[in-house]
Amino acid sequence: MTAEILYGKPIAAATEEEVRQRADRLADRMGRRPQLTAVLVGEDPASQVYVRNKENACRRAGIDGNVLRLPADVSQSRLLETVESLNADHAVDGILVQLPLPQHIDEREVLDAIDPLKDVDGFHPLNVGLLAQGRPRFVPCTPLGILELLRMHRIDVAGKHAVVVGRSDIVGKPMALLLVQRKSAIPGGPDNATVTVCHSRTPDLADIIRQADLLVVAVGRPRVVNGDMVKPGSVVIDVGINRVDGKLVGDVDFDSVATVSSAITPVPGGVGRLTVAMLLKNTLAAAESRSL
Ligand code: GUN
Repeated sequence: MTAEILYGKPIAAATEEEVRQRADRLADRMGRRPQLTAVLVGEDPASQVYVRNKENACRRAGIDGNVLRLPADVSQSRLLETVESLNADHAVDGILVQLPLPQHIDEREVLDAIDPLKDVDGFHPLNVGLLAQGRPRFVPCTPLGILELLRMHRIDVAGKHAVVVGRSDIVGKPMALLLVQRKSAIPGGPDNATVTVCHSRTPDLADIIRQADLLVVAVGRPRVVNGDMVKPGSVVIDVGINRVDGKLVGDVDFDSVATVSSAITPVPGGVGRLTVAMLLKNTLAAAESRSL
C-alpha cells in the first residue's frame, strides 16, 4: 500500500482565507482588527521561528499580530504583570505565552494568569475543564488542527481505535479528549473513537500501536514509530518536528510507514502548518465573542 499524503497547507490556506474575510467584516463593523499578542521570553531559536511563523500568518489573515519580547532573566512577577496588563487591555483579543519558558519561571502560574476569554492556546484550566466536559471553548491549536485535517479528509473515527502516543498538556491529552467526545468540537468533525493514550511508561508500546486504526504520535523524538509497528491501512498523524543532521523529521519514520498505512501526514508540511492556522481561528473567535 502507498499512503495518501495528508498535507496541511491547503487546509491552512483555506482557514487563513476564511479568517481574513471574517476579520475584514469585524473591522468594518467595529473599526478594529482582531489582535493577538504573543509573549516571547528569551532567545530559544525554535520559539523564535514559531513566533515569526505566527506573525506572518497573522499578517496574511488580516489579524493584528504583536510580539512582546522579554529577556531570558525576566522575573516571575514581571512576567505576571505583563500578562495582567494584556488581560486589561481592551485592544487585545488573544494572548499567547510561547512555551517553553525559562527554568526559573513557574509556567503553570503564568498560564493560569491569562484571562480565559483571551486564552487562544486553550491552556487555561477553565478551558481545559470545558473541553474535558465536552463543551469546548478554546481548544489547543495542534489537536484542533488534526481534527480539521481528519474532517477535511472525511476520516471517520467513530467506534475505531485511536491510539495517542504522548500525554502532553499541549497535544496528547487534549487530542485524546477530542477524539473520545460524543459530539465533535467542530461541526462534522471526528468523534466517538475508542482512545488509548500511551506514554514513556507504557509496556508493549509496539503491540498497542499495532492495534491503532488512527495513530497520533506526539513524543518529540525522531522516528520512534516505523512501518513494522503500524496496522496496515491505518491513518498516521505525525506531530513531531525534530532536527536530525540539519533536516526536519517527524516522530514517525515516514518512508517505512507510508508503505503500510493508508494515509500519513508529512513533516514538514503536515500538522505544523495547521497549528498556526488554528491559532488564527481561535483569535478570530475571541475577537468575535468579545465584540458581541
Ligand atoms: N510551544 C510549542 N507549541 C506551543 C503552542 O501550541 N503554544 C505555545 N504557547 N507554545 C508552544
